[in-house]
Amino acid sequence: MSRTRLLFAGADEYLATFEAAARSLPQIDLVAYQPGQDLAGIQYLLMWRPVPGLAAAMRDLKAIFCFGAGVDRLLASSDIPAQIPIVRMVEPGLTRGMSEYVLWQALRHHRRIWELEEAQAEGRWAPHWYPAAWERPVGILGLGELGIATGEKLLEFGFPVRGWSRQRKQHADIESFAGPEELPAFLRDLEILICLLPLTEATRGILNAGLFSGLKPGASLINVGRGQHLVEADLLEALASGQLLAASLDVFAKEPLPADHPFWRHPRIFMSPHNASDTDPAGGLGEIARQIGRSLTGQPLEHVADRARGY
Ligand SMILES: NC(=O)c1ccc[n+]([C@@H]2O[C@H](COP(=O)([O-])OP(=O)(O)OC[C@H]3O[C@@H](n4cnc5c(N)ncnc54)[C@H](OP(=O)(O)O)[C@@H]3O)[C@@H](O)[C@H]2O)c1
Repeated sequence: MSRTRLLFAGADEYLATFEAAARSLPQIDLVAYQPGQDLAGIQYLLMWRPVPGLAAAMRDLKAIFCFGAGVDRLLASSDIPAQIPIVRMVEPGLTRGMSEYVLWQALRHHRRIWELEEAQAEGRWAPHWYPAAWERPVGILGLGELGIATGEKLLEFGFPVRGWSRQRKQHADIESFAGPEELPAFLRDLEILICLLPLTEATRGILNAGLFSGLKPGASLINVGRGQHLVEADLLEALASGQLLAASLDVFAKEPLPADHPFWRHPRIFMSPHNASDTDPAGGLGEIARQIGRSLTGQPLEHVADRARGY
């Protein structure tokens, strides 16, 4: 079997993991990128942060595979030739990890776990009240690959789930709202709001005071989309006023989050360092091998980012 070269231009610390995963794919020859190397004949590139000038220097390049679901950084890179498809990652490990993280945080907000943690720290026996899951409407901004799977996981636990997207979805159990005009109705009475949107010009700054004011007072926010979706000052103000009770943030406008940032010390903000969910190296490379197989046999690539839409 002839092997297809796939140029790996990810962070060096991941290379050994990817090389190990590639060993079970006899059709793929994973080649580590080194500045100055001969790129002639290499048709496929794997990267998640743009390496300046690399795509433009690969004259035989046919496609770029992103190892994450969000392709905002690659789409914003002006030196990637417009005709080169950028493929975003859709992979069961990534999807499962995201549903798991959001369920964990939704249950944390639903049961106000911090009250128990505080009581335990003080040695207080403090039984507390919480409503039934079916009395807690949960809304998901972005009802795509990750949003739908996450919604289905929350449904299993009894939460009423609704979602917001550009195009209306047909789903038996998730109420679908579409477009800016239906955003207020989507937000009304929500107690837990999850952001799983891609970062585009239309969604930048969407998590702001105006949006928070449309939720039920005392609602919680889970942002696993991108840090730039959130207006940070508006979140702090909404937490101070009680319009929001708490927030879980996995993504930040500046990563790593600076040491003096007020989020670090806020008692109602839970944070994780942008790894709510990661692509499984073996599953992700397997998916790329499947897509390369399609490309080599003249079939269209799947999950290609649409440059005009921005995701
Ligand atoms: N924190 C992490 O560890 C992590 C990991 C993976 C992904 N992510 C983030 O999650 C995002 C979503 O990933 P995905 O695979 O679910 O993407 P996806 O399948 O492309 O879904 C995106 C969803 O957002 C909706 N949308 C986009 N722009 C919109 C707008 N202006 N108004 C309303 N809805 C809009 C889309 O609507 P349509 O369905 O109508 O097109 C779609 O439902 C990624 O872009 C990334 O930023 C974060």
